Amino acid sequence: MRDVGGRPDAARHEEVRAVVRPRRRGVGRRLRGVRRRAGLSLGLRALGARYGALPAHDGLWEAAAETAHDLLARLAVVPMVLEARGLDVTPGLTAAFERAGDARSAAILGRIYRDEIRHVAAGTRWFESACESRGFAAVAQWQRLIRAHFKGVVKPPFNDSARGQAGLSREYYSGVAAPAQV
Ligand SMILES: [Fe+2]
Repeated sequence: MRDVGGRPDAARHEEVRAVVRPRRRGVGRRLRGVRRRAGLSLGLRALGARYGALPAHDGLWEAAAETAHDLLARLAVVPMVLEARGLDVTPGLTAAFERAGDARSAAILGRIYRDEIRHVAAGTRWFESACESRGFAAVAQWQRLIRAHFKGVVKPPFNDSARGQAGLSREYYSGVAAPAQV
């Protein structure tokens, strides 16, 4: 039996499967994300809090507004500076929860940390790919965009190991980092 395009059913089915398979994987990832957020929410509730209970700065929103005009600037600032900062500070925070005997919060932070490595990796990959397609040298372009669009300080100490796992080499941030506080 053939479909209206004249191709055998088997070929047509393989074509459909090729489209559906990655979408299924995407749905699986989103479901895992929902489950994780539900776990975070329960963890906060166990501490007598909830998401949004405490005031927070709106640096992420400000960065989104500042870079709304330019994909490269958005990738340079949000995943490669702000999310990368999470990689620097989360291990210390996790250790503090462990020392305080709160293993559950430490485990939640561990999960967030692993997620963030993936987020920084995705941002770096997209940034480098967009630079390549536009003929820019990635590191020099990143440093130029950070100087123009990042209002904060690229602050050491850096978690070079986690940043390296995400493909964010020292070459990027050593040129724009603030001097280390002694
Ligand atoms: Fe993230």
